[in-house]
Amino acid sequence: MAEKIEAESVLISDLYDDLLYNDGAMFKELDIVSVEGWVKTNRDNAAVGFLELNDGTCFKSCQLVYSKDTLENFSEVTKFLTGCGISAKGKLVLTPDAKQPFEIQCTEINLEAPCDSSYPLQKKRHSLEYLREIPHLRPRTNTFQAVMRIRSVLSMAIHEFYQSQGFVYVHAPIITANDAEGAGEAFIVTTRNDGDYEKDFFGKKTSLTVSGQLHVEAYALAFRDTYTFGPTFRAEPSNTPRHASEFWMIEPEIAFADLNDNMQLIEDMVRYCIEYVLKFCPAEMAFCNEFMQKGIIDQLQAVVDSEFVRMPYTEAIDILLKSGVDFEYPVEWGMDLQSEHERYICEKVINGPVFLTDYPKDIKAFYMRLNDDNKTVAACDLLVPGIGELVGGSQREERYDELLQRMKDMNIPTEGMEWYLDLRKYGGVKHSGFGLGFERFLMYITGVSNIRDVMPYPRTPNNCMF
Ligand code: 4AD
Ligand code: MG
Repeated sequence: MAEKIEAESVLISDLYDDLLYNDGAMFKELDIVSVEGWVKTNRDNAAVGFLELNDGTCFKSCQLVYSKDTLENFSEVTKFLTGCGISAKGKLVLTPDAKQPFEIQCTEINLEAPCDSSYPLQKKRHSLEYLREIPHLRPRTNTFQAVMRIRSVLSMAIHEFYQSQGFVYVHAPIITANDAEGAGEAFIVTTRNDGDYEKDFFGKKTSLTVSGQLHVEAYALAFRDTYTFGPTFRAEPSNTPRHASEFWMIEPEIAFADLNDNMQLIEDMVRYCIEYVLKFCPAEMAFCNEFMQKGIIDQLQAVVDSEFVRMPYTEAIDILLKSGVDFEYPVEWGMDLQSEHERYICEKVINGPVFLTDYPKDIKAFYMRLNDDNKTVAACDLLVPGIGELVGGSQREERYDELLQRMKDMNIPTEGMEWYLDLRKYGGVKHSGFGLGFERFLMYITGVSNIRDVMPYPRTPNNCMF
């Protein structure tokens, strides 16, 4: 009697990794394996069936082959529909001549969880708009398998970049009593419905943070190199493909650093993260390259290999004025650049990432360091093709009197901001920092053109599903 061979439980990712990195050692050792996952497709020709199984551990699926001869419940299995949860056992076989590098010739396939034909994700291409209506099911699609794994890997890249250089990760508060930066754009946090904030939970008006910057500045002036990476909230009515009401931001803050050091850090970080994703998400990036934005991999590689151009705002205005383009918003020095202007500069003029620096003080935040011309501040925005503003940063105003004057000029109450001014009183050395919108970075890397499709549960005006 043949000895019963125990099946080795495997993940589909292990099988692909083994072929890629380990010369297929597992395939030589293992005979019978068991897998679990969800049916992507299932077809048969009355004698043999082919079932494409995805187990969530990697972008690629695994082909299960089954036949009338080897499977007792053959006819039942032929009826397993897309979306069913199953488990299977069978022989692992290399298939170098086929479309997929291996298959499992099944001796057993069991239904773990049924899925009927009302399943909203039938095998066909669904529009991203349609998928937005089913945020709880869309992670099962190829697009979201690719984008959300890249999202996870990109978060790791960011932490590794900073941690490997000794930066301290600071958790800035999500509820804040300080609304200096986001005047008018913050979501109020309250437990009352009469707006009497003095009697409110915290005894004062509080809101969800629009940025962790001010809080992390205090940490940079103690730890030197710091960063935050957390959710931020903005009650802006902007209904665009690039704005979300809740988004994640990376905000490094570095002491003894000026605007040039800041830009160098931004550039190094962007390059590091792109290389990291290209290295650790090859299948996902190949998918994006084919279905999200053709040529995106080459474009990203070019970014990794190039130096970012740096251009003062004033020069950008000159270029826009001389461009002869009839912009929707007319160009003049002192204006806040609109997306059409930003994109013209980085897509038509530079054709790559570009830092615009030294913006007029009147269109930038109070904490940016005033330049000697008294007209501009030491700001840097990084603009990238397809997105526009990816990063906003600056050298901070570290001089007490100048900061106070700027706050007065901009009608920013000093009450409640004494702590921030304190930082300038007590060892407030020169320092700089920036904010990088995590979702915008993800859009840039994947080529996905709407921010709603790079976050699991997007929150935008009039839209907060579940
Ligand atoms: O330019 P912002 O408003 O800068 C700040 O908040 C500073 N406190 C950052 C700092 O210096 N520490 O925002 C920074 C970045 C933008 O460049 C953009 O990428 C992203 O955050 N961002 C948004 N992303 C998605 N949806 C929105 N509504 C966003 N608003 C800004
Ligand atoms: Mg900005």
